[in-house]
Amino acid sequence: MAAQLTVTFAGLRFENPFLLASAPPTESDSNILRAFDAGWGGVVTKTIGLHPVVNVDGPKTKFLRSTPDSPHLSMKKRPGTALHSSWNWELISDKPLDWWLPRIARIKAAHPDRILVASIMAGSGSDDELGHWQMLTKACQEQGADAVELNLSCPHMDRKDMGSNIGQDSALISTVTQAVKEVAKVPIFAKLTPSTTDIVVEARGAFLGGADVISSSNTFPSLPLIDPESLDFEMNVDGYVSSGGLGGPAILPLSLAKMAQLTQSFPDKAFSGIGGVAEFAHALNYFLLGCGTVQLCTAAMLDLAIGPNVIKQLKQGMLDAMDKHGWSSLDDFRGLARDRVVTHSKIRRPDAKAYHGGYDAEGYARPV
Ligand SMILES: Cc1cc2nc3c(=O)[nH]c(=O)nc-3n(C[C@H](O)[C@H](O)[C@H](O)COP(=O)(O)O)c2cc1C
Repeated sequence: MAAQLTVTFAGLRFENPFLLASAPPTESDSNILRAFDAGWGGVVTKTIGLHPVVNVDGPKTKFLRSTPDSPHLSMKKRPGTALHSSWNWELISDKPLDWWLPRIARIKAAHPDRILVASIMAGSGSDDELGHWQMLTKACQEQGADAVELNLSCPHMDRKDMGSNIGQDSALISTVTQAVKEVAKVPIFAKLTPSTTDIVVEARGAFLGGADVISSSNTFPSLPLIDPESLDFEMNVDGYVSSGGLGGPAILPLSLAKMAQLTQSFPDKAFSGIGGVAEFAHALNYFLLGCGTVQLCTAAMLDLAIGPNVIKQLKQGMLDAMDKHGWSSLDDFRGLARDRVVTHSKIRRPDAKAYHGGYDAEGYARPV
């Protein structure tokens, strides 16, 4: 049988399992239309909210680059460097809901077969604010959004009841998800923050609230580096900086560790893997750990803003891998590596000496 890129995920049919994540590549209808023309199976819109959004006075994203054969890392543009990561302190969409709604309808009319996920965010400190989540959900689904992703993970919100501050509180995650599910007619994705002690706790909160999918990871809270000459942060406004989000290659192994915890704890649930993907070999990690779709941001930003070459490679790379391994669809390889992540004591020792996780092995103190 010919290899199939199509997948059914959360009850939705995707032409391929690759989505643009909520970020600058999906900040406008023109970008999203270009993305669908380029072949992306789905997009998640830049997060839509109700409050006025004013970004910092200066660049919102920069890219940290390494120099081969040198430990040097810097955001300064210079030839012959390799991408290490993206760093951003961009807020959610500065376009209001009224701007987005007719555009959601127009995008769906132009591409009825592609999956459009509306990312939304509101506060959670009162019943009125829970009502905002419901209002945003109803508005986006009425215009034809195929699913809604709850941004519970934006790392740069000052308010304690927004973004990743919700994502660090499993009870609040449940409350918000449940409120949304009361009005939702479409699948609900909960996008979690990696900035938490045990992401399984927050995921359980989302599933208890009725989430259909967990998306992970958003960017990792981080700072830009300080320039050793000027002693200024490489990104700053008037010399000041604030915690922002790290994305791109540097977070691939970190996001995978989060995803392994999630898919092992909830093997029957649906997961959308995000973080550091730039080619199929990277996406394959998420699929082998059990994800049903994969989302990208940094790699697409650096490829003509919406990743036309990236999506071409992802699709061809998946077809080549399926051909090589004799797989006919994602179902044949999804989750194959999930149970290979084990506790340290289960890893074989070279000479068959037993190691019991440090409990009774030589060199470790015996319990008293
Ligand atoms: C400039 C920028 C803006 C972003 N804006 C949003 C956003 O509005 N909503 C959201 O859920 N994630 C946002 N993200 C996070 C991305 O969707 C994604 O989770 C993250 O960048 C990790 O993926 P990557 O390694 O492929 O970049 C943003 C990321 C960047 C770099």
